[in-house]
Amino acid sequence: MTFESYSEPRVKRINDFLDSNLLKFRGSVSQRFAPLISAMQYSLEGGGKRLRPLMVVAAAECLGLPIDDVLPAACAIEYIHTYSLVHDDLPALDDDDTRRGKPSNHKKFGEAVAILAGDALLTEAFGLMHQLTENKRFNALNILNATELLSTFAGVRGMVGGQLLDVTSGNLNYSLPEVEFIHIHKTGAMILASVLMPARLIGAEEPRIKNLRRYGEAVGLAFQISDDILDSEATLRYSRGPRKKPKPSYTQVMSPAEMKQKLNSLIDNATQALAEEGQKAEPLVAIAEFIRTRRH
Ligand code: IPE
Ligand code: IPE
Ligand code: MG
Ligand code: MG
Repeated sequence: MTFESYSEPRVKRINDFLDSNLLKFRGSVSQRFAPLISAMQYSLEGGGKRLRPLMVVAAAECLGLPIDDVLPAACAIEYIHTYSLVHDDLPALDDDDTRRGKPSNHKKFGEAVAILAGDALLTEAFGLMHQLTENKRFNALNILNATELLSTFAGVRGMVGGQLLDVTSGNLNYSLPEVEFIHIHKTGAMILASVLMPARLIGAEEPRIKNLRRYGEAVGLAFQISDDILDSEATLRYSRGPRKKPKPSYTQVMSPAEMKQKLNSLIDNATQALAEEGQKAEPLVAIAEFIRTRRH
């Protein structure tokens, strides 16, 4: 199985779900709110790789769940990821004028609308989670527990906490443990949440999810290291524009060769974690291998 052959049809389903859901949503609210929906749509449809929803889908397949059943949760995670990028680019945070090769949300719609579009994406993500109640496969308590997973990994103990440390760290004399702590929270948390989401939805107990957790922790950190490698090689910078503010990065604590070695060992760790899961884990392994070698 290649990453491309796996991801292409599934990313299409994820995109179709996101498109039709937003279209329905637009039709259900007053036309007065149209500018907000347009700003949400701009970043939601802005060319993201959909890696987190793809991980939700791949983890579902690993647990024997049909893809369609987890799409609302997969897209809730993409909503929160998208809001985090809209806010991350704001002048008060990273002050980045471009994202994915296009003007960042606040450059296109102004700061006030961008802040509100981020707020709306975060809030409506929980509305998407509620759509899971339409599916008889999931009981209400498990859906609530999955919602708690999302709020925990997106909030203070996860992405938002990591963002705080990223933007307020001031001096750039980090130690490796500090950089790692920031990355595990800022980026790793939402990736781990994606991998654990289907397990939480079916109420799987810890022994059943231990391999998935080990996989999710390893790929979460690996993803940010691969991001730092691409950033340092300026591959990503072209689409994100020149960086105005310095940020904590592995490049400050490791040589390029050490970063690649760390990335490789985390990906090896992730794939080994799934060895017992057999064929059903192949999609998750393909995603990990994509992270090892990705160029975008
Ligand atoms: C970018 O994430 C921000 C980080 C957490 C490193 P992605 O590279 O997954 O962003 P998109 O959605 O594909 O643009
Ligand atoms: C992206 O982090 C935002 C989150 C992880 C929430 P960065 O600031 O490190 O990444 P880019 O360069 O803006 O995508
Ligand atoms: Mg940032
Ligand atoms: Mg940034």
